[in-house]
Amino acid sequence: MSTVYLNGDFIPQEQAVVSVMDRGFLFGDGVYEVLPVYKGKIFRFEHHINRLYHSLKSIKLSISLVTEDWRKIFEKLLELNSHLGKNQSIYLQVTRGPAPERNHAFPKQINPTIFVFSYPLKTLPMEVLSKGMSAITLEDSRWQFCNIKATSLLSNVLLYQQAIDQGLVEAILIRNGEAVEGSTSNLFIVKNQIIQTPPLSNHILGGVTRDLVLELAKKDQLPCEEKPVSLAALYDADEVWITSSTREIYPIIKVDDKTINQGVPGNIWHKMIQNYHNFINNL
Ligand code: PDD
Repeated sequence: MSTVYLNGDFIPQEQAVVSVMDRGFLFGDGVYEVLPVYKGKIFRFEHHINRLYHSLKSIKLSISLVTEDWRKIFEKLLELNSHLGKNQSIYLQVTRGPAPERNHAFPKQINPTIFVFSYPLKTLPMEVLSKGMSAITLEDSRWQFCNIKATSLLSNVLLYQQAIDQGLVEAILIRNGEAVEGSTSNLFIVKNQIIQTPPLSNHILGGVTRDLVLELAKKDQLPCEEKPVSLAALYDADEVWITSSTREIYPIIKVDDKTINQGVPGNIWHKMIQNYHNFINNL
């Protein structure tokens, strides 16, 4: 049994109930975050909360909670869910709440629904990661506001499912001939020892993991560039990685029918995953 936080209360998950008139349910009118927790410590708390407030501002939704309120909620939830282990993911969602009628326009009176739960974080061991993984490319069918971490994820869901149905780990999305990101992750390539990732724009989510990878690469004096990655450059890359809070850094060794780096994760990935794990061990 796990405990969740809903609108001010910590209650058993089975007892947590939200109105069917909630705009999160009717319109997908809400935003979310996923924060990993390692050895009981919340990973990049401020980065995730800053992004949450950016998303909230983008959808014109204000809440009374401030940053430190979130920290208290997370710490109490982790304490109540300590039986789920020391490594967990915290999921939080804020919606525009219930409304008296279904109307696209915002209701006059807004009572946001705030929901948080946690569950065990399952990362893959090095033996599995080191074998590498495969991905497909698909045309990006999402909207123009991919920089908002919105709960309306139907395009992402349909795109990701196509990858899963083919036994693959990700769908890398192509917009205007450029690989922008994965359906659930950010994208990196390495060419001639230079790490490249598409620049921030409204076509990608500014990943917290992406930021950290860039930070760690710079610290290790590995050259990196934020620049567009064409489909041709993706196929021709020496290394391809995807990054996210729950997957860390996955090495992709096959994209569509193109084998990357003769089908093994590259040297720079090995360095970066080591840097990443060192960072986590020193949290
Ligand atoms: N998703 N891009 C998209 C479309 C994502 O859904 C995610 C993460 C990322 C990576 O962001 P971060 O490094 O901050 O996790 C990029 C989360 C994990 C999810 O939806 O479950």
